[in-house]
Amino acid sequence: MNLKENKKRILSGMRPTGPLHIGHLFGALANWKRLQDSGEYHAFYMIADLHALSTEYQNPSQIGKNVFEIALDFFSCGLDPEKSVIFIQSQVPGHAMLYALLSMIVPLGWLERNPVYKEQLHELREKEITTYGFLGYPVLQAADIMLYCADSVPIGVDQVPHLELTREIVRRFHYLYGEFFPEPEALLTTTPKVPGLDNRKMSKSYGNAIFMKDSAEEIRKKVSTMFTDPKRIYKKDPGHPDKCPVFLHHGLVSTEIEDIYTGCRGASLGCVECKKLLAERMISFLAPLRAKREELAGHPKKVRAALEYGRERAMKSANKTVEAVNQLMGLNYETDR
Ligand code: TRP
Ligand code: SF4
Repeated sequence: MNLKENKKRILSGMRPTGPLHIGHLFGALANWKRLQDSGEYHAFYMIADLHALSTEYQNPSQIGKNVFEIALDFFSCGLDPEKSVIFIQSQVPGHAMLYALLSMIVPLGWLERNPVYKEQLHELREKEITTYGFLGYPVLQAADIMLYCADSVPIGVDQVPHLELTREIVRRFHYLYGEFFPEPEALLTTTPKVPGLDNRKMSKSYGNAIFMKDSAEEIRKKVSTMFTDPKRIYKKDPGHPDKCPVFLHHGLVSTEIEDIYTGCRGASLGCVECKKLLAERMISFLAPLRAKREELAGHPKKVRAALEYGRERAMKSANKTVEAVNQLMGLNYETDR
């Protein structure tokens, strides 16, 4: 890969809290791959295991397993360790170091009034996350982004408050110690949210997800239970595809969208048939990913080597930043004397 220094840098991450589903695939990973393949960026994609630990610390044994699963998901959908720097967050000590340094300068109020924090405290009440680490989640995220001097951050709208906080931290850092970092911008994904089987947001915890690694049989079973237009009781009732998650999913994987639309509106296509077609299109769409995944799963050493290669390259950038920040924050013992 050509690491031209003048290329813009992008960084994004995903928490290894479970296998990835097609919401992740169409919402984020497809975008990451597009950015990678455009050749316009120097891309860093990370498995954010420290962030996962902030909510899963009571059950950490799962994280290691999930990291490997997510690496398989990443590589099988076409993220390429030669084109992008793909690595595990905790394997690059600079994240923890910059997190500690930034935590010295971030006012508590900024974290306490973060809307994502308040919402999560409420949503994950059973998890005992009134911890220092969970409050500091966005500081760690700022460290991730700043460690690679990322110019842009591919994220979904839900992450915008976190990025805003990163920008505030960058400005405060500059005010205290001088200009150093780019003020990172959001590269928002334009894909609409992929609805789950029950038409709520697709999420592992709602049990309404189609996973990237699901088998053909699992996909057929799941799709057959999908929520459809509730106003369409009999096949002779014209349907409303725009309000139907089955149709939205067709939009992601099928080529005959227009026929499906008119068939549904004109009541000639029944929901059972429509779902059967969707299942087959989804299966064909995911087949090459599944094949690649199975091949990689059979060669865990190859996967570990790819992540190690990513770690080495991530370390190079990270070490440079940590060294510079140490200097700027007065921890420059070697050059001092
Ligand atoms: N907080 C992000 C999420 O939950 C994951 C993440 C961690 C991240 N570090 C990041 C995203 C840095 C973008 C940049 O999805
Ligand atoms: Fe939805 Fe298809 Fe039924 Fe129309 S025919 S309501 S798009 S499942």
